[in-house]
Amino acid sequence: MNIQGTKSPQSLQKTLGIGLTLGVSLLWLLALSGTVYVSQNKLNQLFDSALAETAQRIMPLAVVEIINREDPQQAQQIMSFEAHDERLVYLVRDETGAILLQSHNADPKLFNETLLEGFSSSETHRFYGASAVQNTLHIEVAEPLTQRREAIIEIAVTLFWPLILLIPFCFIGTWAFVRYSLRHVLAYRSAIESRGSGDLTPIKVNDLPVEILTISESVNHLLGRLRRALESERSFTANSAHELRTPIATALAQIQHLQQEVAAGPIKDRMLKIEATIRDLSNLSEKLMQLAKAEGGGLLSTEEHDLISLLSLIVDDFQRSKPVSLIKLTLPQSGEFMSDIDLDAFAILIRNLLDNAIKHGTKDQPIEISFSSEGVLSVINAASLIPAETLAQLRQRFVRSNTAVQGLGLGLAIADAIVSGVGARMTINSPATGRVDGFEVSVDFTVIKN
Ligand SMILES: Nc1ncnc2c1ncn2[C@@H]1O[C@H](COP(=O)(O)OP(=O)(O)OP(=O)(O)O)[C@@H](O)[C@H]1O
Ligand SMILES: [Mg+2]
Repeated sequence: MNIQGTKSPQSLQKTLGIGLTLGVSLLWLLALSGTVYVSQNKLNQLFDSALAETAQRIMPLAVVEIINREDPQQAQQIMSFEAHDERLVYLVRDETGAILLQSHNADPKLFNETLLEGFSSSETHRFYGASAVQNTLHIEVAEPLTQRREAIIEIAVTLFWPLILLIPFCFIGTWAFVRYSLRHVLAYRSAIESRGSGDLTPIKVNDLPVEILTISESVNHLLGRLRRALESERSFTANSAHELRTPIATALAQIQHLQQEVAAGPIKDRMLKIEATIRDLSNLSEKLMQLAKAEGGGLLSTEEHDLISLLSLIVDDFQRSKPVSLIKLTLPQSGEFMSDIDLDAFAILIRNLLDNAIKHGTKDQPIEISFSSEGVLSVINAASLIPAETLAQLRQRFVRSNTAVQGLGLGLAIADAIVSGVGARMTINSPATGRVDGFEVSVDFTVIKN
């Protein structure tokens, strides 16, 4: 259910799934950056020490080579033993910067112009410079930076790959785990959803998490209070209506008795009016008792009954007490429709619908009652049209449309309470289906079974 003006509710599964996946990904990226940073430092130290080592190893060889030459000032390029891609290149220069010896692939333009000692870097290379023979000879070894960069990129990529797998795994894993952990809460939700509006018994779901347990206890507590309040209201109505029966019957008997003793005249007329009023009072107490029953529990019985044979009994009985010749009852040729609706409740429902059809229907027009083999009861009578907005309110207590005849406006409220109490569905149509006028009430009993 959406409460207007508030944001639409979010699924806990989705929020946790997204939140945890984002968190884990972020932590992974942080760990990755840390690893890359530390590895880069360590790699640089390693590469640097190898570079310095190489320079110090080559230097004595170069010194011997240069000193043993006929003309030591003659620049010489060391020939390679076989063609290979040199990673480390070096240059040996004298104190003026003149090149005395260079490795076969060395490009002098790459090197520092000034003769530097120790480590230095250019855009593309890392250098290590050292001097020997009283600073008359200077060696500089260069190593391209691409090697170090490649190594770092490889480490970063290797560490990044698992994240691609981690994201869906983390999301699906959280989703499934949250669903598993919430299974009792979901059971609680469907227990609430599946119960009828009149069911106020405590909701029982086992193994609820502590966070929800208190809520469920409070809800049950509230339901209990509501049930007791409604029950006391209903029993008060039923009891008072019941208590009224005897005095009303006594008053009615006495006024009828008195009428016989009085001759026709104004006093007799007044007595007739009193009798009519007492009859209305009797009707009211009868309807109030029916309403109290309809709105109370106990609308379903433990046994199943065949509604088709029950309906024909009730209609027969009704015709005997109020002789009307025009009731047309249509029942399926064979078969039965079993339902666990309480016998009395079903009889009250049918009597109210028939009572209405006789009271409000056009006189001398047939009343059609049918019960389909699928379990749909329909009562149709001729009547003038009722505007849609009035029609929609007829189920409410004390709402009437036809005020020409006596009534209280409780019949349809009683019928509606019974129908919704047993979980069936009632529709009211004016005009009746397939007609231009008339009034139709149909009750679908199939829903009770599902
Ligand atoms: N079969 C029907 N044909 C035409 N109008 C109907 C029919 N049934 C109900 N109505 C209309 O719906 C109104 C409400 O019906 P409801 O049974 O609740 O009250 P009532 O019949 O007027 O009084 P009560 O049943 O309490 O004696 C009626 O006043 C009438 O206008
Ligand atoms: Mg009625």
